[in-house]
Amino acid sequence: MRCDKDKATLWKAYDPSADQYSTLFATLRHVSCVGAHLVPAHTTAAEVMGNPVVPAHPKQRWQALQDHRQQLPIWTAKEKLLALLQRHQTVVLVGETGSGKTTQVPQFLLEGGFAGEGMIACTQPRRVAAITVAKRVAQEQGVQPGTQVGYAVRFEDNTTAATRIKYMTDGILLREALLDPALKRYQVVIVDEAHERSVQSDLLFGLLKGIQARRGHNFWLVIMSATLVAAQFVGFFPGAAATYVQGRQFPVQVFYTASPEEHYVDAAVVAVLQVAVEEGAGDVLVFLTGQEEIEAVQRLLQDRANQLPAKYQSLAILPLFAALPPDQQARVFQPAPVGARKVILATNIAETSITVPGVRFTIDTGFVKTRMYNAKVGAESLTVTPISQAQARQRSGRAGREAPGKAFRLYTERSFRQLQPASLPEIQRVDLAAVTLQLKALGVDDVLGFDFLERPPRAALVRSLEELLALGALDSNGRLSPLGRQMSRLPVEPQYAKVLVAAAHMGCSLEALAVVAMAASDQPFLLPRESRERAQEAHKRFASGEGDHMTLLAVFQAFHGLQQTSSEQWCHDNFLSRRALCKAVDIYSQLLENIKALGLPLLSCGSDTTPVRRALTSGLFKHAAKRHTDGTYKVLASSQMVALHPSSVLCGKRPPCCVFSELVCTTRAYARQVTVIDSAWLAELAPAFFSMH
Ligand code: CDP
Ligand code: MG
Repeated sequence: MRCDKDKATLWKAYDPSADQYSTLFATLRHVSCVGAHLVPAHTTAAEVMGNPVVPAHPKQRWQALQDHRQQLPIWTAKEKLLALLQRHQTVVLVGETGSGKTTQVPQFLLEGGFAGEGMIACTQPRRVAAITVAKRVAQEQGVQPGTQVGYAVRFEDNTTAATRIKYMTDGILLREALLDPALKRYQVVIVDEAHERSVQSDLLFGLLKGIQARRGHNFWLVIMSATLVAAQFVGFFPGAAATYVQGRQFPVQVFYTASPEEHYVDAAVVAVLQVAVEEGAGDVLVFLTGQEEIEAVQRLLQDRANQLPAKYQSLAILPLFAALPPDQQARVFQPAPVGARKVILATNIAETSITVPGVRFTIDTGFVKTRMYNAKVGAESLTVTPISQAQARQRSGRAGREAPGKAFRLYTERSFRQLQPASLPEIQRVDLAAVTLQLKALGVDDVLGFDFLERPPRAALVRSLEELLALGALDSNGRLSPLGRQMSRLPVEPQYAKVLVAAAHMGCSLEALAVVAMAASDQPFLLPRESRERAQEAHKRFASGEGDHMTLLAVFQAFHGLQQTSSEQWCHDNFLSRRALCKAVDIYSQLLENIKALGLPLLSCGSDTTPVRRALTSGLFKHAAKRHTDGTYKVLASSQMVALHPSSVLCGKRPPCCVFSELVCTTRAYARQVTVIDSAWLAELAPAFFSMH
């Protein structure tokens, strides 16, 4: 499937005749098979088809769920797992995605009596996974979510005193360790998706190892992973044992493109249509990199899908990304409507965290959005990067969970061979300031000597110490300062934590809380394609000459004053996402409680927003930039040239000096969420930093 001019025109000028697709399709070359036929002979049809159709009657529904549970591959490993835990304090459990680890293992432990003296924690790298899984497991247990089975994610705690199984993000468990260093509330900690090696789980490994050594025999660890990385964990935890669950994996045919694709988004659209006209029944899972891209593909695909001749199954196109409202997320778990096939456009969350039933075809763009720390630039950015070979295999495997499947890779076989065998663990590539602050607050003074599963580069750790020093979180001896302790109690990145504490002393807590809450929430400005101009007009009413943070503040303040009933209409009229704003209000309330708990003053600066911009400067100085003669900006800390993001209200105005929230690297480097500042504030508010640089 080449993206040369002819073919690009071919599918753009879509003529709904299958022949055209055959031509394109022929260039996809069948190369190899992965996966063995591991289905036991007694597999039933219902099992092969994944989730049974859910009966309406609650009792029947519960029974159907129990039947589904017992058919999961993990079920055969239950006794073995419980027996291993009698002899070993740590068990590493490896099982193919979809085998039932996340939903079943905590229930096995509960039933096996492992929650008599404490809860069972099960950590997830993603909040979406923690929430959806907790809801599912509550259903399986026949209880309401938040009772016996609950979840806790940042800014949302859905547990009670009755909770025995608690799904949580790994970050939350780390925060709890700040207040309860021995994690006494838990009898078992399950670290799930260990192969993902999120920064937080990497910290947990070291921390939990220490806790286990101190607590001894009434504290168990279960490390769960979808890939064969057991040896590293077994070597790290003293006396650990490993066990494997053979997943249900049908053969998957892998296809590559004959030549490289210039535009993987276009190629993905074509590939979906090809499946639609060429392939038999089965849902399609497309791996894309982020929300905006998913929404773009959704629009492109919907246009073309509407023109599909009636003889083909219609397409039910469903997005799946972390910021999607829960009710829409739930739709991907339901069977496709009669006569249709689901096309799920997902971010990496569908790679291992979430199992979408019904998938027979995967389309892999070969890319993922990752947090990358650029030591040279001294800043972190979200960057679209190639996946690893391990990820490509994992993605293809999703096509063969319920029946033989096909995986279409939108890159050449040669490109595949050039990919890294496995991706670099996050801790090796992100800004470590938050990690270091957390470790310091957990009492780990010698951060360089911490028992990491795999040590991050020394230079990056040293840099993070410098950054915390510049923020004032550490004193000159490298010990946590009182300011640093306060910052560590706030569940936001260190630079925002600094903004909040500084704001409290500058008399503008309420405004700073709103700004930080808005920055931490999702994009509130909606730009529907059909009414883009009207939306832009509406958004202009909030635009502040002082920049995007003050614009966000204006939106927040206007929304916060509204009644629930009028807010829906108001959001609609102003093309604002009510969900993003409600989320910001939630975050605001949580952070407000945190600030109160620290005993910091809660004051408002009224209409003069200078203090708020000064508070922002005192935290975001690393992202301070000055205008260059050619109108671009130079980041002072790194000398990197950046442009103001096209979405910024300051885009055409070009103030001489600004700070921004983050660097976004697409075709070029952009500063996102920008605020006008006075350059003199930099030396005043971050003297340590600007003398260092
Ligand atoms: O963790 P692992 O990938 O091994 O499997 P799991 O997440 O426990 O999923 C086991 C089964 O439960 C899969 O067949 C999922 O489709 C199903 N499931 C579901 O239907 N709804 C959820 N929210 C979570 C899992
Ligand atoms: Mg899982």
